[in-house]
Amino acid sequence: MTTVLITGANRGIGLVFARQYAADGATVIATCREPEKADKLTALGVRVEQLDVTDPASATALAVTLKAVPIDILIANAGYYGPELQDADDADWAGFLQTYRVNSLGPLLVAQALKLNLLSGQDKKLVVLTSKMGSIADSTGGHLAYRASKAALNMIAHNLALEWKKHGIKVAILHPGWVKTDMGGSSAPLSAAESVAEMMNRIAELWPGNSGQFLDYQGKEIRW
Ligand SMILES: NC(=O)c1ccc[n+]([C@@H]2O[C@H](COP(=O)([O-])OP(=O)(O)OC[C@H]3O[C@@H](n4cnc5c(N)ncnc54)[C@H](OP(=O)(O)O)[C@@H]3O)[C@@H](O)[C@H]2O)c1
Repeated sequence: MTTVLITGANRGIGLVFARQYAADGATVIATCREPEKADKLTALGVRVEQLDVTDPASATALAVTLKAVPIDILIANAGYYGPELQDADDADWAGFLQTYRVNSLGPLLVAQALKLNLLSGQDKKLVVLTSKMGSIADSTGGHLAYRASKAALNMIAHNLALEWKKHGIKVAILHPGWVKTDMGGSSAPLSAAESVAEMMNRIAELWPGNSGQFLDYQGKEIRW
């Protein structure tokens, strides 16, 4: 049976990943910052564990709790849109740094902490939720902290694809589309269920030949 671990699974896209993989019969380990407040997640009946992706002690504690549990698919989904002030002339530096901690370093921290679990899984798939807003080629400016943090994530994930290829680990760098969540807002054209259904197909298709590519939820390549 496939085991899937998801970060930031208490709401938004992460919650729908947990719901859909559980419905497909996978064993789901859903992580979030405050499990005691994660009512929607708890209602799914999946295993829930605490994880703040900015906190190395939290990541280490999770690895200890999981012991040698094999993980087939590790989905680094947790994300932060950044502070109010994040433009070229005016930036909230603490908020800017937090954006990097969550979006860029968070997936790396979790991937490193759970690497042994991933290595003992069958599939060995690491998935990072990035954004088209991290594409330098596509940028129209604005939202500097978020864009920069996702561009940095793209480089980190691409490097992991290159460096962990020798271990058989494949890396998907996925843009979910513009999705109706707290982050995406109510004007977004896609529901989280539509986006997740497509991304699950992309994850199923992940193999060494497309590892490390920057793809949207429909499998279309995005320029870096
Ligand atoms: N929605 C879109 O249109 C869109 C577009 C492109 C990319 N994305 C990316 O897709 C991913 C999911 O986005 P979403 O729309 O579902 O966002 P969301 O509704 O804002 O949910 C964000 C999730 O990340 C969690 N999180 C934030 N900081 C965390 C931390 N330090 N440790 C652990 N979890 C943390 C949140 O937990 P709390 O409840 O504890 O805050 C929440 O579960 C993100 O990486 C986002 O950048 C989304």
